[in-house]
Amino acid sequence: MAVVITVAQQKGGAGKTTLAANLAAAMAGAGRRVAVLDIDPQGSLARWHALRMARKVAAAPVELSNVAGWRLAAELERLRRSHDVLIIDSPPSVETDARLAVRSADLVLVPVQPSPPDLWAAEGTLKLALAERRTIRILLNRTPAGGRLRAAVAAEIARQGLPALAATLGNRTGFAAAFAQGLGVNEAAPRSLAAQELLALLSEIEETMA
Ligand SMILES: Nc1ncnc2c1ncn2[C@@H]1O[C@H](COP(=O)(O)OP(=O)(O)O)[C@@H](O)[C@H]1O
Ligand SMILES: [Mg+2]
Repeated sequence: MAVVITVAQQKGGAGKTTLAANLAAAMAGAGRRVAVLDIDPQGSLARWHALRMARKVAAAPVELSNVAGWRLAAELERLRRSHDVLIIDSPPSVETDARLAVRSADLVLVPVQPSPPDLWAAEGTLKLALAERRTIRILLNRTPAGGRLRAAVAAEIARQGLPALAATLGNRTGFAAAFAQGLGVNEAAPRSLAAQELLALLSEIEETMA
């Protein structure tokens, strides 16, 4: 049965789809059987996957599903049975499909940009994941190097007793560049800082799940 990682955050633009794509690419590159499930009607992850499939030189295989709605529960079961990892990219909401995606998760990853309004915007998602008794981790995304803001947000996260990963992702154009090629940063720019951050994130996630 697959480990299910749901990337959830009711705020749009927080980095959910970017994170889902990069985790999928890195895990597939490590030899895992990876499926991604795009339940966001915007379909950005499905478009990333289409770019990946259209590449002349095949990238590590990732299966895509974008089944949503009433067939979602059965699809989750199917994907779970046939993969090692299932990564779900969710829409910016805490309703129906997003709720089921959180409920089905072994790990709920919540990307948050380091500013107080972004942290406030995550409250609904965090409440939902807590109510469903899921393992939750906040990921600080697009963090400025050092920065007072980052420290302030990290302090606020600690004050609220929220579970945050030590790994963070910086604000790096490499993420968008890789995405536009249907790749993760580990594939498009393996020596970049972005790729180093992604791999550090991956090993922390694997520790969390072990
Ligand atoms: N760590 C990062 N560094 C730079 N840009 C990022 C990073 N994470 C996300 N982005 C950019 O932010 C925008 C929104 O990201 P996206 O993953 O689509 O968010 P969401 O799925 O939460 O709406 C995209 O343009 C994406 O390239
Ligand atoms: Mg998205």
